[in-house]
Amino acid sequence: MLSISNLSKSFGGVVATNNVTLEFPEGSLSSIIGPNGAGKTTLFNLITGKLKVDSGKVKLEDEDITNLSTRNIVLKGISRAFQISNIFPSLTVKESLMSSLMSKNNQAEKLFIPFHSKALEEEAEELLEILEMKSLSNVICSNISHGDQKVLDIGLALSLDPKILMLDEPTAGMGPEERWKMVETIERLWKLKKLTLIFIEHDMDIVFKISQRIHVLRYGSLLASGSPQEIKNNEEVINAYLGEDFEAV
Ligand SMILES: Nc1ncnc2c1ncn2[C@@H]1O[C@H](COP(=O)(O)OP(=O)(O)OP(=O)(O)O)[C@@H](O)[C@H]1O
Ligand SMILES: [Mg+2]
Repeated sequence: MLSISNLSKSFGGVVATNNVTLEFPEGSLSSIIGPNGAGKTTLFNLITGKLKVDSGKVKLEDEDITNLSTRNIVLKGISRAFQISNIFPSLTVKESLMSSLMSKNNQAEKLFIPFHSKALEEEAEELLEILEMKSLSNVICSNISHGDQKVLDIGLALSLDPKILMLDEPTAGMGPEERWKMVETIERLWKLKKLTLIFIEHDMDIVFKISQRIHVLRYGSLLASGSPQEIKNNEEVINAYLGEDFEAV
């Protein structure tokens, strides 16, 4: 289980994370919601070591992993989808995955040795299979659709063999059809890989459809945590974020 306790982070006078305590049980699918600027991405940055915490703790099982380097956090089994800009635009889809698989072992430069290992290629093909991207294997990354780039993004995170996968707005910028396809992919990968999945999402139809637990942030503080049913009926959450007319699917 991943847990955070009394986590805080400020930027100058802005309190981005304010004394947040949360648990993410093993194998669960949780989402983090809240208005723009509520501190959702900052929370991810604190968990993954991208930002140093001001105070509080991040724990994986019984181990204190607060303020470890991003690389060490990845080695502990916590991965996050990269931003699309991190995809190597001139490599093929398969080469990108191979490169990421190698970076896990600090061997990325070996990709450019012509006779790279067969095992690595097989590992990349296995990933392509579970991502349902085999047909795009030899396509240059910059030529695949926005939606496929987002799936590849998740594939790159998966190549690091995480137990915990964190996705920050994986459906952003997608049309409705592509969006639901992405949701199906996320659910499928979550089950297949038995991941603990944490995601940030603005589309409430998606959040209420797939989450087991929902955590609501506002002004950096935790406003509410609960099942979709509990969150849907929480007056404070309705007033602060969902709105009176909200009807979950
Ligand atoms: N590196 C930074 N330097 C200064 N201020 C920052 C930094 N990162 C975040 N903030 C501020 O912290 C607050 C929380 O930002 P954060 O990006 O975590 O919000 P968010 O909930 O992810 O918002 P959104 O839904 O728009 O993505 C905001 O006021 C933001 O301006
Ligand atoms: Mg954000």
